[in-house]
Amino acid sequence: MKATDPLWNSDAKQTHTFLPLSAENLSVDVAIVGGGITGLMSALLLKRAGRTVAVLEARHLLDGVTGLTTAHLTQVIDTRYHVLERKFGREGARLVGESTEAAIDLIERIVEELKIDCGFERLPGFLFAETAAQRDELELEIHAASRAGLRVSGRGIPPLPFPVALAMQIDQQAQLNPRALLMQIAREIHGNGSYVFENTPVTAIREGRPCEVLAARHGSVLASEVIVATHSPLNRVLLQTKLAHYQSYVVSGPVTERLGGLFWDMSDPYHYLRTQQTAEGYQLLIGGEDHKTGQAPDTQAAFDRLTLYARRFHMEPTRRWSGQVIEPVDGLPFIGRNAGAIHVLTATGYAGTGITFGTLAAMILTDRIVGRPNPWADLYEATRIKPLASLKSYLAENVDFPLYLVAGALKGPDVSSLREVKRNEGKLVNHDGKSLAVFRDSKDALHVVSSTCTHLGCKVAFNSAEQTWDCPCHGSRFSVDGEVLEGPAIKALENHVMFDETAEEAAHVPVPRPSTPRPRRSSPDVRR
Ligand code: FES
Repeated sequence: MKATDPLWNSDAKQTHTFLPLSAENLSVDVAIVGGGITGLMSALLLKRAGRTVAVLEARHLLDGVTGLTTAHLTQVIDTRYHVLERKFGREGARLVGESTEAAIDLIERIVEELKIDCGFERLPGFLFAETAAQRDELELEIHAASRAGLRVSGRGIPPLPFPVALAMQIDQQAQLNPRALLMQIAREIHGNGSYVFENTPVTAIREGRPCEVLAARHGSVLASEVIVATHSPLNRVLLQTKLAHYQSYVVSGPVTERLGGLFWDMSDPYHYLRTQQTAEGYQLLIGGEDHKTGQAPDTQAAFDRLTLYARRFHMEPTRRWSGQVIEPVDGLPFIGRNAGAIHVLTATGYAGTGITFGTLAAMILTDRIVGRPNPWADLYEATRIKPLASLKSYLAENVDFPLYLVAGALKGPDVSSLREVKRNEGKLVNHDGKSLAVFRDSKDALHVVSSTCTHLGCKVAFNSAEQTWDCPCHGSRFSVDGEVLEGPAIKALENHVMFDETAEEAAHVPVPRPSTPRPRRSSPDVRR
């Protein structure tokens, strides 16, 4: 099985290539950084509102977390409604129910209007309890979700191959193939003065009138407004302190029958599942086993546990992948103005509800740009501070940075020589007083980069399942060659020479490694 192989990549029809930007000062109304759900949905809505747009994606559309989602379109968000009532009041919880319903409805309308063949399907969701404690919590949730306006149809019996203690059924949820949806939307955006660019990493945003979006050798875009839709935000300090980064894992494999619903159990971390029809028949997707990015001693173990869980459904995984989810400290996404900016907008913190909240973010940001009132904008405002709602989680989540910064500084090497790094292993090695992150590939070649995260200096840890270097402090992820795969880091890990072991032993002479500049993911700098 390949290390990362999302089910959505299996459909070769769902690819389309857009050229990179190749112009200086290309002028549009709105520049959008990032080609995932938020960026593409925002571009579509803005174009429909009469604005010209340019979407700039650092690599290929959906190369980021949108391409790794399981696409549960749902009002069952990670924060329970009885918790939302406590943190945001009953009206706040009601607005969450109303806004997520509106986002799913909008996706359905777009699918119908554009006749997108993405398997959009309405079906019920089931949150189910398997223990007495979970059952007590679910009783509370059934009442709160009903008060919030969700279509809770009593105590449903979920169509699962095992008995459960209690289940909440929520009607009119949905599922689809996210790649099929968004590739068609991208084609719809491009043209008539609007653009989609791939392989165009943005290197800086300068706010002004107009804003200037720089893409190094590719050129630049001038725009009245900029949307940063890069999953992890660009604000290096303030917004990062209100977010926590988790890695979530998914396996999929063939099953003979379709499960008629979306499902979540109430374990901690929880599992999420659904079926998807493909050319090869029904595939069951099972996700979960989340842990904080860069903090699990053995990431491979997460896939092993999911494989074990899949036996409950008589499914043998044939594909697996993982993606990062960003948990907001007070339980709701941050959507709106970037802190300290006027014309730069952002959206992040969707937790496990990316397609729904990404679409909602597009609705809110579009209304803001075109000057329409939006009934949910205040609730999700990116610069909000809810001290009582979030203080406990805020303190808990922000222990990581000082803790791992100090622990990393004190941590010794994993091994004392390069020879001890086995094939497909990544280890920290000290060399000439420097801490290096060393990966030996399957052909015995060594890939050597600095172990110091370029965001705020924590030491990275090896992710054996994905073969990446992950930062435990704020979730930045890097390839074994140091390329930024996920922010908030902007700069690559310092690239060191490739060491030849014979040379190391003989004279500690490094063999220079040919350096090939590679595009990085959309994580530009923001300057005003
Ligand atoms: Fe912040 Fe690494 S120090 S992501």
